[in-house]
Amino acid sequence: MSNVLLKNVVKNYNPGKARDVLRGINLDIKEGEFVVFVGPSGCGKSTLLRTIAGLDDITDGELYIGDAFMNDVPPVDRGVGMVFQSYALYPHMDVRANMGFGLKLKKMDKAEIAKRVDPTAELLGLTKFLDRKPKALSGGQRQRVAIGRCLVQQPRVFLLDEPLSNLDASLRVKMRMEIAKLHERLGATMIYVTHDQVEAMTLADRIVVLSPLASGAATNLEQVGAPLELYRTPVNRFVAGFIGSPKMNFLTGMLDEIGAESCIVKLDTGSLVKVSADASSGKPGDQVELGLRPEHTVLLDHPQADSIITGTVKLAEHLGSESFIHLEVGCAPFTVRVRPGTPAKADSQFDIGVPADACYLFDADGKAFKRTEIFVRKD
Ligand SMILES: Nc1ncnc2c1ncn2[C@@H]1O[C@H](COP(=O)(O)OP(=O)(O)OP(=O)(O)O)[C@@H](O)[C@H]1O
Ligand SMILES: [Mg+2]
Repeated sequence: MSNVLLKNVVKNYNPGKARDVLRGINLDIKEGEFVVFVGPSGCGKSTLLRTIAGLDDITDGELYIGDAFMNDVPPVDRGVGMVFQSYALYPHMDVRANMGFGLKLKKMDKAEIAKRVDPTAELLGLTKFLDRKPKALSGGQRQRVAIGRCLVQQPRVFLLDEPLSNLDASLRVKMRMEIAKLHERLGATMIYVTHDQVEAMTLADRIVVLSPLASGAATNLEQVGAPLELYRTPVNRFVAGFIGSPKMNFLTGMLDEIGAESCIVKLDTGSLVKVSADASSGKPGDQVELGLRPEHTVLLDHPQADSIITGTVKLAEHLGSESFIHLEVGCAPFTVRVRPGTPAKADSQFDIGVPADACYLFDADGKAFKRTEIFVRKD
């Protein structure tokens, strides 16, 4: 059964005057699924959550929750709980009252409310703050109250808008694991917005990548898929550049030779690079972009090095467990992950081994050519 279904959803805050924020949004979210929305700031992630919650109207299209048509149903009757990016706590109420407020509105009795609020506060490390007002809490503590307020409602669908963004690194990791456990325990549908790649990759059953709507575009929904599917086979340059950290490197060039299983790309720098992609829809001379992830390069003498790209060292970052070297290839920035402590002197030349099956290839419109092999490092 599908739990949240969006059909051709359009959102415009000022129809006729402003541009659409969302267009052509088709999503079929299953019961119990954990779906993560990602995309650059301003692309409409919060807007999409708010339309599901009923806090914003849908300009066009249809929304169903649990098979019921929801376009005109008020938020309280949708069975959803939302954690807002801005917390939206009641300033005059203490933490206990904030967390229990939704239940009080539903006329639940005091003892019942306490039965839900107390263990949730315990889980979130808020027990000793229960009598405090929000203004006497840190940003991270307020965020946890907002999460708690949603949890106690036990909704069918959780809508979480960057719920961990104000927590410090260690609490963030702990809360991420708590959310994963909670999802497992409750089996509830969760829709979650984040800018954090690790959260998206680890929590999601499926990731939805949104982009700022380009004028004339049919939709700003770029791709929906399992985390590794998006990482391995992005449909276009936008998704390729968005999923993965550090980001994929891009170099411009043209198609040189085209075979059935692979092709040769001549980069603007003059280097020839073999790519395991089916570029038979293109022709020699077509402008293309080559994509290569920082973690997918190899040493020159490695058996998987099919081609060589040479860059100039700009900066080396040694993080202990790994090192990154930031290069310039032609005029393009290019980052490679190398063995920890690999020496790299500024302004020196640095050769990179490039496996053909680690390369991604995009046409002039940014559409990905089909990859014929997927890189697996063999060392
Ligand atoms: N109430 C509103 N009235 C008019 N425009 C709005 C309103 N809320 C958001 N917008 C606009 O809609 C677009 C999408 O905003 P939204 O808050 O959904 O982005 P977002 O993807 O959540 O961004 P961020 O990652 O920064 O939170 C932005 O251009 C924003 O300025
Ligand atoms: Mg937002």
